[in-house]
Amino acid sequence: MAHFPKPAAGSWTQQYPELGTDLVSFEDSISPEHYELERKAIFERTWLNVGRVEQLPKTGSYFTKEIHAARRSVIIVRDAQGEVRAFHNICRHRGNKLMWQENPGEETSGTVRQFACKYHGWRYGLDGACTFVQQEQEFFDLDKANFGLLPVRCEVWEGFVFVNFDDADPTPLRDYLGKFAAGLEGYPFGELTQVHKYRADVGSNWKLYVDAFAEFYHAPVLHSKQYVGDESRKLMGYGYEGLHYELAGPHSMQSAWGGMAPPKDLNMVKPIERALRSGNFGPWDRPDVPGLDQLPPGVNPSRHRAWGLDSYVFFPNFMMVVWAPGWYLTYHYWPTAYNRHTFEGTLYFAPPRNATERVRQELAAVTFREFALQDSNTLEATQTMLESRVLDRFPINDQEILIRHLHKTAGDYVAAYTGKR
Ligand code: FES
Ligand SMILES: [Fe+2]
Repeated sequence: MAHFPKPAAGSWTQQYPELGTDLVSFEDSISPEHYELERKAIFERTWLNVGRVEQLPKTGSYFTKEIHAARRSVIIVRDAQGEVRAFHNICRHRGNKLMWQENPGEETSGTVRQFACKYHGWRYGLDGACTFVQQEQEFFDLDKANFGLLPVRCEVWEGFVFVNFDDADPTPLRDYLGKFAAGLEGYPFGELTQVHKYRADVGSNWKLYVDAFAEFYHAPVLHSKQYVGDESRKLMGYGYEGLHYELAGPHSMQSAWGGMAPPKDLNMVKPIERALRSGNFGPWDRPDVPGLDQLPPGVNPSRHRAWGLDSYVFFPNFMMVVWAPGWYLTYHYWPTAYNRHTFEGTLYFAPPRNATERVRQELAAVTFREFALQDSNTLEATQTMLESRVLDRFPINDQEILIRHLHKTAGDYVAAYTGKR
């Protein structure tokens, strides 16, 4: 691997003087009090991605999303006009959770004509209007028109559905997502509809898992077993350098080398990868999907020949990785406590046209899961040791700039919120 040039400032980090280069505290990841503030300052106040429009194929298609950190559950639905809408998942009668199956804590999805409450049978249209009250005559001057479902702000960007619980902040989704989202517009997200999804309950603060995917400094070491012996030793010797790092408001991105798909030397990879032409960088051969041959201007910003992927952190908890061989994945980190969160990893491929393509995608998906397990093991070990508080300041290197930025950003949101209160 070549050494990649650094910006004129001498380092990626020093281009952004507000970041500083000091040791960093992770008290924000072990403090229950700080977590309570993050819930209010971040998860009740920013645009949160809850899914994609393909999950809502027709009128009446819906899914629910549990957003524990905001103490809320939402219903996302496609209405009769084809619009995507969101409502709080609470019945106006006596507050029962409206849509759930066996277990009220679990998310659900399906298709309905109306939403009917399991408790006393009140019903609501796809536009949220209350359409039926059981024994309406027993109530006192009840005007159904005033008892529709409570709407949640909901906007769609490139097929990604977002909600925002802050009714006072007028920032439209696209403005919030900013430069990186604009640079991705036109990518054929809507064509990559073959989905593999993982979900895990992880014993660490949500930011620590973002950190684990926001730097690849760890990759040659933690993931060394993913490579054949010789190659693994070589990679460790080289270390890791990103092609490009950039910050834009609360969001950040890095561009990385991708010499593994296909590898320069087939001996670099395991026999199964050689046989299938697929591996942890995805299937090596780009699918024949319009738009994948002409990537949007924001992708591969350094225009490097060795480009392999762009990895975005859309604050707070939505990451996206766009891979050179023509697929993408997303990560979500949904906090459930200061030291726990639900992780979701979703891989999106072009629909396979035959069994070979299918198996290639499967190999990429299981390899990804192996990687993610290696990462999450480390997280629980990190969380418990951070909580010992025997150390409280840590050095963060230039390849870890996104981590420095994430913790600063989360801290800034909390500070702005507590300052306003
Ligand atoms: S709580 Fe929903 S109908 Fe009574
Ligand atoms: Fe990793």
